[in-house]
Amino acid sequence: MRISRNKVAIIGAGVVGTTIAYSLVLQEVCAEITLIDINEVKASGEAMDLQHGIEYCGRNTKITAGNYMDCKDAEIVVITASAPYSGELDRLQMMDKTANIIKSIVPNIMESGFDGIIVVVSNPVDIISYLVHHLSGLPKSQVIGTGTALETARLKQHIGEILNIDPRNVEAFVFGEHGDSLTVPWSHVRVSGKNLMEIIRDNPEYSDLDLKKIEESTRKAGFDVLGKKGNTQYGIASVATGIISAILRDEYKAIPVSTYLDGEYGVKDVFCGVPAILNRYGVVDIVELHLTEEETERFDNSVNVIKENIEKLGL
Ligand code: 2OP
Repeated sequence: MRISRNKVAIIGAGVVGTTIAYSLVLQEVCAEITLIDINEVKASGEAMDLQHGIEYCGRNTKITAGNYMDCKDAEIVVITASAPYSGELDRLQMMDKTANIIKSIVPNIMESGFDGIIVVVSNPVDIISYLVHHLSGLPKSQVIGTGTALETARLKQHIGEILNIDPRNVEAFVFGEHGDSLTVPWSHVRVSGKNLMEIIRDNPEYSDLDLKKIEESTRKAGFDVLGKKGNTQYGIASVATGIISAILRDEYKAIPVSTYLDGEYGVKDVFCGVPAILNRYGVVDIVELHLTEEETERFDNSVNVIKENIEKLGL
């Protein structure tokens, strides 16, 4: 009998990996977290520091520093490792360095006997997810990139701010690359059940709402934060926690993650952001929205950007 340990292993104890760990602890998502980092001393210090706060958390979470063998009995491995950010203006510029790191990590995870779900955070996340899927040999349902879930959260927050409503009452999905070519299918954006286009039509005060500008600010938000503070951490940590929670709690939640497309949306052999249903098996279904002709064209363009870069990996 395989005993579920509710354990998450996080590869990379940098600012993103440790913020994900902290968010998992605060949201009481799992029983155990193992931090794995090339810098074992730092991983150990981070684990200790996190463990010291458990007294004031809603549940006990065991947090340790470990090695790749500790992935064996984890339900989820989160990969956050990447080349250090050095002022790149596009996530694609990080591809070669991060791909080399990933090539050294994934075989170690798999050698442990791991057979769970890998959540990929490292950028460029769509291409790195493809690489992780290729190297791991895991079924497509078991490799999930955080994808456009982050831009979707940013878009909802922005629309919520403009319309003065809880962002969680905004229904929207950003499609495509977690990067410059992403696209927002505006025809599917709803707020409290009402289509955004109808809201604009019915409310003169929103008649000059500039959707292109909102989309552009969604596209640029990550680099705006990077420019101001040198990294992003809370947004991505919340997103990763939402994905991990949907899996461990078997939520059947629709989240726009980077997932392997095998004919859905007329696209094959690529990882990119589309709404997917997540449960304890990972991606159990992909939601195929009816996109307009223009939305399809923009989505296809984004898929092509990802594909061109996957080709450069020479797999
Ligand atoms: C983000 O968008 C940099 O991909 C990272 O927060």
